[in-house]
Amino acid sequence: MDMNKLQDFMGKLVVDLGGAALAANIQIGDELGLYKAMADNEPVTPAQLAKKTGCNARLVREWLSAQAAAGYIEHQEGTFRLPEEQAMALAVEDSPVFVAGGIGAMASMFIDKDKIVAAMRGNGALPWGDHHPCLFRGTERFFRPGYKAHLVAEWLPALDGVVARLQAGAKVADVGCGHGASTVIMAQAFPKSRFHGYDYHAPSIDVARQRASQGGVAERTSFAQAAAKSFDGKDFDLICFFDCLHDMGDPVGAARHAWQALKPGGTVMLVEPFAGDSLEQNCNPVGRLFYAASTCICTPNSLSQEVGLALGAQAGEAQLRRVFLEAGFETFRRATETPFNLILEARK
Ligand SMILES: C[S@@+](CC[C@H](N)C(=O)[O-])C[C@H]1O[C@@H](n2cnc3c(N)ncnc32)[C@H](O)[C@@H]1O
Repeated sequence: MDMNKLQDFMGKLVVDLGGAALAANIQIGDELGLYKAMADNEPVTPAQLAKKTGCNARLVREWLSAQAAAGYIEHQEGTFRLPEEQAMALAVEDSPVFVAGGIGAMASMFIDKDKIVAAMRGNGALPWGDHHPCLFRGTERFFRPGYKAHLVAEWLPALDGVVARLQAGAKVADVGCGHGASTVIMAQAFPKSRFHGYDYHAPSIDVARQRASQGGVAERTSFAQAAAKSFDGKDFDLICFFDCLHDMGDPVGAARHAWQALKPGGTVMLVEPFAGDSLEQNCNPVGRLFYAASTCICTPNSLSQEVGLALGAQAGEAQLRRVFLEAGFETFRRATETPFNLILEARK
């Protein structure tokens, strides 16, 4: 045995275990407003932060110490300061790199651990709706900053002729819309178009309706509980799947239904987690995050549905292309990408 290799591996594990413990502390900081109370980048003592947020001063000091040890917060002579860059990720809800809100999705993996263990010992199935509700809100907050930063500015313009149609007035479906983050962002940007969100999880559809009202787009959106293979409606100009196709049991059936529901010349926008086509290509920080979440959330959900294809969150472009060609689409291309997403276009 190589003792140096063992030591290196133990070092890596300590970093990872610290990350897992830190994740709980990020969620706590987000929920208690501790990061937001430090978003002015001014130094603060534990007692001052505790007073500002109505929290226990001794526990706030311990929380701040953990943040300092992790390099999230700066520490000097008994005061703590959240630098501007870290505030973007941890405190500023509307920033393109805000991640603190998505921690709820990570937390569900711990909370639902017994159900995941049972699925792994059994047929692999764990439906989306059987998770703790922190997953649904966490997923919305995890993906929304990326959609807000890229969807209207980069992803839609990367599709052939779609922005012109949206500006003129198009009929759009957002399949597997969850809490409707993407639906609302598109509806706000294109007032002449109509947006129809579908998800098979009824509580998410209720929240999506609330989000549309809060976002001032209730009159140009509609939401319905429906599975991807059977939602109503025809003659769509654009059908979108945001970070959900790989979660479905029968993605070929979903793509086939989209083909039937599209107008001739219509477009599917498929947004999927960034991935290469092989495990080797995905052995990196983004791949480990998505494979780990996929083990506990995405793949068990697919296995809980008809067909149970179980693409996983690192399906990669080649597998996704096969799904769309099998469903009847003739063109399929990578329109654009970010470090976290592949944006793929299929045309009817
Ligand atoms: C990871 S979440 C993404 C939600 C949303 N698109 C977003 O980006 O925030 C996956 C969503 O797919 C939905 N879903 C899974 N299987 C489905 C199916 N067969 N038909 C419709 N929706 C489905 C789940 O209910 C869940 O809301």
